[in-house]
Formats: sequence, structure tokens, C-alpha cells
Amino acid sequence: MNELHKVVAAKIRSSNGRISFAEYMDEVLYHPTLGYYNRENMTIGERGDFYTSPMVHPIFGQCVARQIFEFWQRLGSPAAFTVVEMGAGTGALASDLLTEWGRLGTTGVELEYAIVEQSPVLRETQRETTKEVSGGRISWHSALQEVPGYGSLTGVILSNELFDALPVHRLIMENGHLQERYVTLRETEEGWIFEEITGPLSDARLADILDEGVRSQLEERDRLEVCPLAGKVIMDMADALQRGYILTVDYGDLSPAVYWKSVRSGGIRCYYKQTLGSNPYERVGEQDITADVDFSYLQREGANKGVKTIRFVTQSEFLEKLGFLEKVTELQRLAFRDLRADFELQKMLTLYLPQGLGEDCKVLIQEKGN
Ligand SMILES: C[S@@+](CC[C@H](N)C(=O)[O-])C[C@H]1O[C@@H](n2cnc3c(N)ncnc32)[C@H](O)[C@@H]1O
Repeated sequence: MNELHKVVAAKIRSSNGRISFAEYMDEVLYHPTLGYYNRENMTIGERGDFYTSPMVHPIFGQCVARQIFEFWQRLGSPAAFTVVEMGAGTGALASDLLTEWGRLGTTGVELEYAIVEQSPVLRETQRETTKEVSGGRISWHSALQEVPGYGSLTGVILSNELFDALPVHRLIMENGHLQERYVTLRETEEGWIFEEITGPLSDARLADILDEGVRSQLEERDRLEVCPLAGKVIMDMADALQRGYILTVDYGDLSPAVYWKSVRSGGIRCYYKQTLGSNPYERVGEQDITADVDFSYLQREGANKGVKTIRFVTQSEFLEKLGFLEKVTELQRLAFRDLRADFELQKMLTLYLPQGLGEDCKVLIQEKGN
């Protein structure tokens, strides 16, 4: 039992012997000092447990910068323009994006870059990563509502793999009802272990996240995950903007595909030292836990706040329109006689090919007030 294991066990004991899976996931990922994302040695990429697109190759951030430039033009090239990045990890995307922004020939615009990051450890890493490119333009906040101008921003709210890191509730069809999986404790010879039990939904509205088509076709013992926090976050993003765009890149799909995938192959993924697992109760606080994003839900909740979807595509389709393939062609010409160019090309292609991040990662673009 590590320290975090004990903290979670105490929480379960003081909560009548069980907590929802979302509460469990929140503790093990986001406990202020012991949680996976808040531990002192937290990092992402080669020395961490998993890769994300910005860690694979700077072309990702360069393409995002070009997309943001296009948004800025569509907004009428305003002089005051804010980019908010939520959940910025190591700061690699911010760094690559701002470097590319400087190359795009933007004049007459004061770009403000606000990073919303819950982890103090990662905020420090981000400061370090971006110190050469910041030019005093980056500010850090622990919540979206703290960003100056919240509610009246003109700009873009951006995230990569934020939503798939938010705590989810685990649901199960049992005895003909949609019920919830809770985390409880069981004493064994090795000590207290975490175990799941079924109980009634902690909030009846969890079922409303699923559309009728999914609810009516669930079979006995089918399991899946829902993320009410994702709905709240997208609505907060919509509230932050007066005019602008929300750009979301993440693993997931539309409903019902996203839920049938979860039913078929298990919705929770765990990452430890670049290895995929499915048991969220081992390596407590030392492995990442993630679940696919329901992009239909993000669109629905956004629409309730006056945000309309203008594009939903795979990551490869997104990159294609932003100069990615031109760079591939350029490197292909060099690759057969230059090993470094070939190595770079292979990394770039990870972002694009279906067996890499190209198809599993999706891009949602929503627009407000334009
Ligand atoms: C999977 S990591 C992705 C990091 C980065 N975007 C990347 O692509 O490498 C999730 C990030 O979201 C942050 N995060 C999670 N929940 C958050 C919240 N509610 N507000 C701000 N940041 C959050 C985590 O601390 C972490 O930096």
C-alpha cells in the first residue's frame, strides 16, 4: 500500500464504504500532491508513461498554429486575441505553436497565451519549456474562470488530450437497469485491496449522457463509461468566449460508436512506462488512466451554450489541410540518403497514419458568435 492507496482507502471508509469510479479516478490522478498528474516527477513523453501528439513532433504544434492563424483571420484579424490552452502537459504544444506563430507574419496583433493547468508541477515544467518563446505573453491559471476577460474573450480555446484525462463514471447494465460501478475495499491476506461493486446510479442524469439508441440496445452485463465533467468543461469553454473557436483534439468518437467500442473492448486504458494496461487498481497514482471522449456529447452541450460545430475530422484529415503533407514530401526526398531525415519522417508519420494517432485521435472545431 503506497501513501495514495491509504488516502483513497480512508476516503472510501469515510464515505460509507464506497466511492464512485469518478471519485476514485479523481483522487488517483489529481490528488493535490500524490495524484498521478501532481506528483513531483510527473512527465509526459520518452521519460514518462505515454506520448501525446505534441511530444511526437513539433509539426503538430506548427499545424495547430496555422489553424489558429486562420481562425484569427476569420474573426476579422482583431488586435487583441487570446489563445487559451487547457491542460498543457509539458508545454511542448505552447512552445511549438508560439514559435510557428512568430513565423506566420502576424502583425498588428497582441497575442495573449493563457495556460490553464491544474498541476503545479506541470506549470513549472511549462514555464521552463516555454521560457525562450514566451516573450511575456504566457500567463498561467489553475482554472478557466481565472483567465482575465473570461466571458468576453475573442480567441481560441484549445486542448489536446484534456477530455480523455477527466474522471469518468463506470456504468453497467444489470438486472435490466442501468447501474453504476463503485469502488470499495476488501481485506485479503496481502492487505486491503480495491474492488468494484454495483449500485444504483449516483446521479440519475448520468443516464441522459447516453442517447436513446445506446440505452435501448445495451445488453445485460454491458459496461461503459460516461463523463459528465466533459459536458461541464465544454460549457465553461463556451462561456469563456464572446467570439471565437474551441479546438479539441482527443481520443474518442461520436456516439454510438464510442460506446460500442467501450462495451466491446473495455473503456478504460492505463499507461505505465509506455505499456498499455486495463487495471486501474494497480500502481495507484503511478499510472495514467484514460477513457475515450464522446464527441457527440461535447457538441450537444456546446450547442446549449450557442456554440456550433463547424468541423469534426480525424487527426490525419486535420493535419492534411495545414501543410503536413508538404513537409512529408520534402522529407521523403531527403530520407533515402539522410538517416536523420528518415527518422524525423517516421516520427511525423506517427501523427498521421491510422496505426498511429491519425485515426484514433479526432479534432472537433466549434464556433461561437461569428
Ligand atoms: C493527458 S495530459 C495532456 C497534456 C498535453 N495537452 C499533451 O498533449 O501533452 C492531460 C493534461 O490536462 C491537465 N488537466 C486535467 N484536468 C484539468 C483541469 N480540470 N484543468 C486544467 N488542466 C487539467 C493535466 O494536468 C495534464 O496537464
